[in-house]
Amino acid sequence: MIVQNIQLNNFRNYEKASVSLHPALNLITGNNAQGKTNLLESLVYLSLTRSHRISDDKKLIKNGAMFADIQCKFEDEGILKDIEAVIHGKGKTLMIHKQPVKKTSEFIGLLNVVLFSPDDLRLFTDSPKERRRVLNQEITKISPKYLLSLNKYQNLLKERNILLKEERKDELFLETLDEQMAEEEEKIMMERKYFIQSVNEMLKPAYQQLSSDDIQVSIVYKSCIDDISKENLFRMHQSLHEKDRIYHTTTNGIHREDMIFEMNHANLILSASQGQKRMTMLAFKMALLKHIQKETGKNPVLLLDDVLSELDMQKQNKLLEMIDGTFQCLITSTEIPPFLKNKDLKNFYIEDGKIYENRRNV
Ligand SMILES: Nc1ncnc2c1ncn2[C@@H]1O[C@H](COP(=O)(O)OP(=O)(O)OP(=O)(O)O)[C@@H](O)[C@H]1O
Ligand SMILES: [Mg+2]
Repeated sequence: MIVQNIQLNNFRNYEKASVSLHPALNLITGNNAQGKTNLLESLVYLSLTRSHRISDDKKLIKNGAMFADIQCKFEDEGILKDIEAVIHGKGKTLMIHKQPVKKTSEFIGLLNVVLFSPDDLRLFTDSPKERRRVLNQEITKISPKYLLSLNKYQNLLKERNILLKEERKDELFLETLDEQMAEEEEKIMMERKYFIQSVNEMLKPAYQQLSSDDIQVSIVYKSCIDDISKENLFRMHQSLHEKDRIYHTTTNGIHREDMIFEMNHANLILSASQGQKRMTMLAFKMALLKHIQKETGKNPVLLLDDVLSELDMQKQNKLLEMIDGTFQCLITSTEIPPFLKNKDLKNFYIEDGKIYENRRNV
């Protein structure tokens, strides 16, 4: 897919902005705090219906304004699509071709973007909850069914935890909940297992392509049971009734799972250098692009936020080789990276929420 145009109204520090993008490479330069990340964030919002930086949507509305509006026209298999998100005091309205959609799951992933920003490196040391959030987010982008199962599971889990806090023991209701949860868990776990397997297949070659290190990187799925089936999941919940009652909560299930990044079969955070962590995250993002491409038959858009300056020249060139001609790419940087000089691209310069085309800041 190719983003042709983005229009912003009262989004972050943009009062009004419109950009028409190059189908391949777009370089967005500007000093700090001018709106480079905000522009990428607008595309992330349309892809996930949430920001990658904050959970309170109101902060996305320009200070003093009543609502924010993000509009994007993109080409998807030869068809021009028009999607829009209006963020207002009461929430958000999502539109496809100006028609409001009823379910968020119909909207997520229509525009598929993969973002790489320096903050992503936190994922390695963050809590399992954060890694589950990323796992859920990436699977949801290609599987609306997954989101439905996840929502069902979360509602059942809430009910189960309330029940576990009650003095009265309603064993029959607990068993019904276990059964319903196990059914959703089986679907969720199969998707998680498949996703991690598929990304792993592309993670190793991507790392090796980017770096000359002879290192094996992989993601390990820390699942709540080994042998995935709804019968086994049901039995697992049943066997934990006593423990769950003592702790007043569901002590095992897909809400406790994790994915661990490993380097040479040990947790990456134990031995990886800063550079190796950055390479692993970049390889993960490249593997995500390929996974989405494989599953949907469409090329997602790559957003590189301020990550080039951290890579040496050789790695910058390797990265360009990997994306060149396949994925549309938006690259932000405070300066023009040397490896992009003389390339066929569009250059935007951002200053105080205003976007200028083809103006150089160096
Ligand atoms: N709701 C809002 N209303 C108005 N301005 C906002 C709002 N939210 C953020 N900003 C402004 O946006 C600017 C930050 O923009 P952004 O994060 O895109 O910077 P950047 O160009 O990526 O900078 P850096 O190079 O430091 O990453 C800040 O000046 C901030 O005050
Ligand atoms: Mg930024």
